[in-house]
Amino acid sequence: MRKISFNAPGKLLLLGDHAAVYGKPCLVAAINKFVTVTVSDNLTKESAFVAAAKKLFEQKYGPVKSGFKITGFDSRYGLGSSAAVTVAVAKTMFKLKGIKPTNKQLFDFCYRVVLNVQGLGSGFDLAATVWRGVIYFVTGGKKIYRLPIEQLPLVVGYSGVKADTVTMVKKVAARITPGFLNRSTKIVNQAKILLGQKNWPVAGELMNQNQKLLKQIGVSTPKLDKLINASLEAGAYGAKLSGAGGGDCMIALVAANRRQVVEQVIARAGGQVLKIRLAL
Ligand code: MEV
Repeated sequence: MRKISFNAPGKLLLLGDHAAVYGKPCLVAAINKFVTVTVSDNLTKESAFVAAAKKLFEQKYGPVKSGFKITGFDSRYGLGSSAAVTVAVAKTMFKLKGIKPTNKQLFDFCYRVVLNVQGLGSGFDLAATVWRGVIYFVTGGKKIYRLPIEQLPLVVGYSGVKADTVTMVKKVAARITPGFLNRSTKIVNQAKILLGQKNWPVAGELMNQNQKLLKQIGVSTPKLDKLINASLEAGAYGAKLSGAGGGDCMIALVAANRRQVVEQVIARAGGQVLKIRLAL
């Protein structure tokens, strides 16, 4: 019999970081870093997300006797490995029971798992993993649209510091004002159109505006700032942190003829350049 196996991609948050937790939209990209889950007796030690997914699944659909072998990318970069594992494990369990969930049913199940584990989060990373491509997303899956975008000229730099989303979200909660949320929403809604039109220069400017907002709530770090400023000085259209801040990665939108030099300055500024493409 053919082995049951699913893979699921990681993500990069493009715009709307933190506002996504408060009922506001964000744009997220699924990327070519994959987690693979295979049904196997050779079990991988269960993460909190796998254990929670199994528990919720068994409450709803009955016992799951098989184990899972899980391979994938490094969780250190903040590229959504937990969300990818949760989705791939859930898909595997549904398959084992002969159930074919819609994307929305799969998302809703996984979002419940994530809330059971960490108590908060918008679920944007799960949406990217389930739908792939570039997604316009509103908290909890109130809106999930895949945009007609096949490629994004992004350079990604890892700051060398692992950030913890839950800690960061709680830490800055008191600084999230209606002004922050309104401005973030406007930026995301404009970027949705501009990215679709491949208007990289103006989309890059929106990234810069978003970064300014994120700096105001105190989630950028000197290292992220250094990588972002180096990218801009080297001619990137725009650059910002990606995700909760406090570390993890920065992203820069660049013209093809500036890519190499932007990658070089990120590396020279102490960042690790990650080779990333969209997962479609
Ligand atoms: C974390 O990667 C992004 C946040 O907006 C949290 C979330 O949306 O779940 C800070």
